[in-house]
Amino acid sequence: MHKPEWSLDSWRELPIKQQPQYDDGAKLAAVERNLRSLPTLASPGESRALKRELADAAFGKAFLLQGGDCAESFAEFSEDNLKNFFRVLLQMTMALMYGASCPVVKVGRIAGQFAKPRSENMETINGCALPAYRGDMVNGMEFEAEGRAPDPERLLRAYYQGAATLNFLRTLARGGYSSLKQINRWNVEFVETSTQGKRFGELIARINECIGFIQACRLPLDEVEEFSEASFFTSHEALLLGYEASLTRLDETDGKYYAGSAHMLWIGDRTRAPEEAHVEFLRGVANPIGCKVGPSMTIDGLLKLIDVLNPENEPGRLTLISRMGSTKIGEMLPPLIRAVKESGKTVVWACDPMHGNTIKSPNGYKTRKFTDILSEVRQFFAIHKAEGTFAGGVHFEMTGQDVTECLGGAQAISEINLSDRYHTHCDPRLNGSQSLELAFLIAETLKKQKNS
Ligand code: PEP
Ligand code: CO
Repeated sequence: MHKPEWSLDSWRELPIKQQPQYDDGAKLAAVERNLRSLPTLASPGESRALKRELADAAFGKAFLLQGGDCAESFAEFSEDNLKNFFRVLLQMTMALMYGASCPVVKVGRIAGQFAKPRSENMETINGCALPAYRGDMVNGMEFEAEGRAPDPERLLRAYYQGAATLNFLRTLARGGYSSLKQINRWNVEFVETSTQGKRFGELIARINECIGFIQACRLPLDEVEEFSEASFFTSHEALLLGYEASLTRLDETDGKYYAGSAHMLWIGDRTRAPEEAHVEFLRGVANPIGCKVGPSMTIDGLLKLIDVLNPENEPGRLTLISRMGSTKIGEMLPPLIRAVKESGKTVVWACDPMHGNTIKSPNGYKTRKFTDILSEVRQFFAIHKAEGTFAGGVHFEMTGQDVTECLGGAQAISEINLSDRYHTHCDPRLNGSQSLELAFLIAETLKKQKNS
């Protein structure tokens, strides 16, 4: 059981899963020392603001949209990729806001999503065994011995890329790129060139009509924050606890510790044992946190986890990210939702329809079917409606790039297309068009549910 006293290092005493084996412990310690002196990326005040937004999502007054790469990469880091990602996320936001008639809480899997849990420690090709790729923050993706050796310097490179990423996204969010006036401007090219463009154009036309009406009423639109800037937050899986602990600081204003690597951190499905290191570390930081809930979760396990991670039952503190798979969610999720409800605990329930729906295509690509993804999300909404609980949000692996990694959608990507632009460093992502299509379909479901 947990010792009552938590410290930045208390996790180090406990069993820990999914960690790289560094050869040079002294080098790792030196990098962690360096990180302890570097500025944090996310502030406690921002993390508290996110927690307040998530508290609304817990009570059905807001909707969480969390998305981004499965694994960010050093090679694909560019201004264009960030801009495209952010544009698609905001377009999805528009669609969801319209469908759900409530604010959308925007959280990227970005600016720190560089470390991956893997099912095998080693990868073997033609009899040669090397350490598995664990994300650019740990080792290199290419199958060669030198690059696959975990290198602590990569923690610093991830930190600096995270800093530059967050800085750029802040300039987009605050500098007017996301204002409604601008969104009209991006629309021109998009409507002409993309599968979802026409639909988005129609949505914007409807929004413009509403704005025209509000202006005709002489309401002060320019003073409404949502019209000039977007609130945007970052998140990643807290896998490498030395990195996380080194960027965690005590906040003088409330006397609590906050992880400073991102606004929100989540615990993966493979590292969520209540008596192990990841849960121990995260119980002690005051950020909003997430926890993946896969098919192996039991009712008792979940209730225990909630007690450890959110003992004060603070709304917005804990988001449970269900990732059951489209064939299992109907059976596995309702009993968990019911038990949480009966225990009187407040959580945000979000749906990750990606990680339970990964398949291997006959030509060897790891992929996911758009129809399975949509089916899991739709079942998620229907289950919450039936249980009288709130479907608080969605969690996607997505990119603004025009990749061919998931099957289907309006572009009808087929197995033979997968090789065209398969760029992911880990799991298959929805491309820009598929992401927006999914947001439209979710918006329709939400609208129907509201009117039924
Ligand atoms: C992920 O979100 O990339 C991931 C590995 O998910 P899970 O822990 O749910 O398998
Ligand atoms: Co993934």
